[in-house]
Amino acid sequence: MHHESYPVKKFKIVVKTFAGLEPVLANELKALGAESVTPERRAVSFYGDKGMLYKANFLLRTALKVLMPIAQFKVKRNEDLYNQAKKIPWSEFMTLGKSFSIDSTMQSDLFANSMYVSLKVKDAIADYFRESTGKRPSVHAEDPDIRIHVYLMGDYCEISLDSSGESLHKRGYRVGQGEAPVNEVLAAGMILLAGWQGESDFLDPMCGSGTLLIEAAMIAKGIPAGIYRKSFGFERWIDFDEQLFSGIYNGEYERVSTVKIVGSDISSQSCAIARSNIKNAGLSKFIEVEAKDFLELAPPFERGIIVTNPPYGERLITKSIANLYKLVGDVLKQKYAGYTAWIISSSEEGFKNIGLKPSRKIQLYNGALPCSFRSFELFAGTHKQTVILKKGVNLPGEE
Ligand SMILES: C[S@@+](CC[C@H](N)C(=O)[O-])C[C@H]1O[C@@H](n2cnc3c(N)ncnc32)[C@H](O)[C@@H]1O
Repeated sequence: MHHESYPVKKFKIVVKTFAGLEPVLANELKALGAESVTPERRAVSFYGDKGMLYKANFLLRTALKVLMPIAQFKVKRNEDLYNQAKKIPWSEFMTLGKSFSIDSTMQSDLFANSMYVSLKVKDAIADYFRESTGKRPSVHAEDPDIRIHVYLMGDYCEISLDSSGESLHKRGYRVGQGEAPVNEVLAAGMILLAGWQGESDFLDPMCGSGTLLIEAAMIAKGIPAGIYRKSFGFERWIDFDEQLFSGIYNGEYERVSTVKIVGSDISSQSCAIARSNIKNAGLSKFIEVEAKDFLELAPPFERGIIVTNPPYGERLITKSIANLYKLVGDVLKQKYAGYTAWIISSSEEGFKNIGLKPSRKIQLYNGALPCSFRSFELFAGTHKQTVILKKGVNLPGEE
């Protein structure tokens, strides 16, 4: 048997992410060896085989969903959707014993809403099976074996299987959350956008539930993003290759890291939540958390990187957001020479109050909230109050 001579089956894979994170996701994919990596809107597509599909789910830090398109067609009239969906060879992807669910995103004048689009595709699947077997597979909205995604934009329709199952931001380490925790995928994306992969000591002085600290530790130690998850959607597919996934799951990813990762927060309750999340991720030996007002914190290292998500004043009420940002700016200038600080906020007024010139500005969203992610180089040496402007390569999405 000459297995080498068999062509390895490659297909298109679409990885969804948040707006602004497409370039980091594309870099992550290239690092995995993905081919034809193409950034799209809130997604990156590439070509890969089944092993790459599994790796994408297990290893990518900035992926929300990994989709496998199974059909693309035009929908010019309402009935085209049902007719085309019924032509898909569904028995290649599911059996009668499997339950399924459908979710749809759409922008089309032909259909009243996305529920109706889902319903049409559901009918097509039911009729496909009924006509050949007399039976139909069951729909299970909460915990289906097969998740189907319908994307209908104008007259273009793409139907995909969702190989992830629950969104990949659900890493599995979070036991508690404080107020306004940052999404895990956004946190990882921010750290990677900052260009940090464990090269210097890391501080989040407003760490809340510790998301940025945990994502930083996982990056520094090479811990797979999906290691704490209980399951992935593809494990319930009919073509699931357990041996292939087990080889990927048990691969050598971790590396020794000696960088320090420190978090603090003014709220001792938040610190307790952060510690329990960190403990759950098995990272207690690696991350230190201290309940402290940032304005009173002694810098934990001589130089390093700060990545933080202060209150914006939108979802969290504080006495005076403007004043907090001013004081944060003062503290950075006075005590953190030698550091690079990256701050995400939706508050333009807050940024003005920091009183430092950013060297980079990247547009991101925290949920639905448009935000800016800015870096401040805190110059070490005699001119402590001076900020140098770092000339960097502009990334797409940079303001
Ligand atoms: C938006 S939350 C951060 C959420 C965090 N990134 C997470 O994933 O859970 C902002 C945090 O800043 C903290 N904070 C507000 N003022 C502070 C100060 N002066 N010093 C330290 N932390 C402060 C709040 O207690 C809150 O936990």
